[in-house]
Amino acid sequence: MNKHILITGGAGFIGSHVVRLFVNKYPAYQIINLDALTYAGNLENLADIEASPNYRFVKADILDAASLEQVFDGENITDVIHLAAESHVDRSIESPLDFVFTNIIGTVNLLNTARKKWTNDLSAHRFYHISTDEVYGSLGETGFFTETTPYDPNSPYSASKASSDHFVRAYHETYQLPTVVSNCSNNYGPNHFPEKLIPLFINNIIHKKPLPVYGDGLFTRDWLYVKDHAIAIDTIFHNGVIGETYNIGGFNEWRNIDLVKLLCRLMDEKLARAAGESEQLIRYVKDRPGHDRRYAIDAGKINKELGWKPSVTFEQGLSETIDWYLSNTEWLQHVTSGSYQAYYQSMYANR
Ligand code: NAD
Ligand code: TYD
Repeated sequence: MNKHILITGGAGFIGSHVVRLFVNKYPAYQIINLDALTYAGNLENLADIEASPNYRFVKADILDAASLEQVFDGENITDVIHLAAESHVDRSIESPLDFVFTNIIGTVNLLNTARKKWTNDLSAHRFYHISTDEVYGSLGETGFFTETTPYDPNSPYSASKASSDHFVRAYHETYQLPTVVSNCSNNYGPNHFPEKLIPLFINNIIHKKPLPVYGDGLFTRDWLYVKDHAIAIDTIFHNGVIGETYNIGGFNEWRNIDLVKLLCRLMDEKLARAAGESEQLIRYVKDRPGHDRRYAIDAGKINKELGWKPSVTFEQGLSETIDWYLSNTEWLQHVTSGSYQAYYQSMYANR
């Protein structure tokens, strides 16, 4: 049977890279991108593939069960890759309920719809839920998250993602829904909304605005190029074992302050500014409440069992990312006009 894959959140950062990869690589698949187009969803991200014969966009909210049923019936959905979510920790601290609605109730709506509609041979279907390493909580100086690390979420965002992961697991155990889950570390790359660390700081450096480093700046994240995450998702979608979880990571840990200094150096070079100019923009500001100290992924399972590893070095990926933002100033301008200014004001005014 031909696959008709529903990709939710396909107009967002990671989703748009996944949609592009699948539309181009699998012309025999029908790719249906369902997205509510919140502040984070942007169809400009997909302008290059929107006319492809195997691609369709549906504007709908995963909270709207009737719309989901219509899409499953109308498009004869065989598989789901679920990325739609509220994804920013700082926003989750301001408005936790938005995260409960979309990330938990939206996911359960989608699970219910799949369960209701997939009444034939369940082995012909797959429900792939995309999650985050943040569900595992915070690490000390050493150690790594593995697939068996107990969940210990600290932010409303990670609590909502942890809850959705548990529901996916429960639907597999209780109803034998053919699910698979992956938990990935911090992504970076083109089309990243400038509220997260790397794109926010690239935008601020371009405009010579202050760079607000939270707390002592010694928080550590593992960074993965978004196109490598999309390849991992392709690998797990096709070869991951039903009922399993896979951790995805970049083998690439950076303390925030070191990463920010590297970004400043690269941008000074690319913008032909004096060495050290952008570093002058760094400001230590009030810390994020409940700020996780360190995330680090052991991606050994996906490497050993499915043969995936990152293909792009951090130097390459970061350089390509900066180049993308410097040559897509219109994209940046569109997403930072309107409500973005109010967001920025409310998030950073009192830090
Ligand atoms: P994003 O915020 O850039 O995009 C989210 C997309 O979901 C947007 O297009 C938005 O319009 C859509 N959306 C939001 N609420 C919706 C709703 N109720 N109904 C339909 N669509 C809705 O997020 P992202 O960074 O691309 O993350 C995608 C997924 O990957 C999320 O599930 C996130 O938890 C997970 N993840 C992200 C990272 C990361 O570093 N960004 C790392 C690991 C996992
Ligand atoms: P972020 O990109 O929001 O991802 P996450 O919180 O999901 O890991 O933040 C990455 C790190 O950068 C995190 O330790 C918080 C820090 N940070 C700042 O220091 N300043 C900022 O303005 C932002 C947005 C993040």
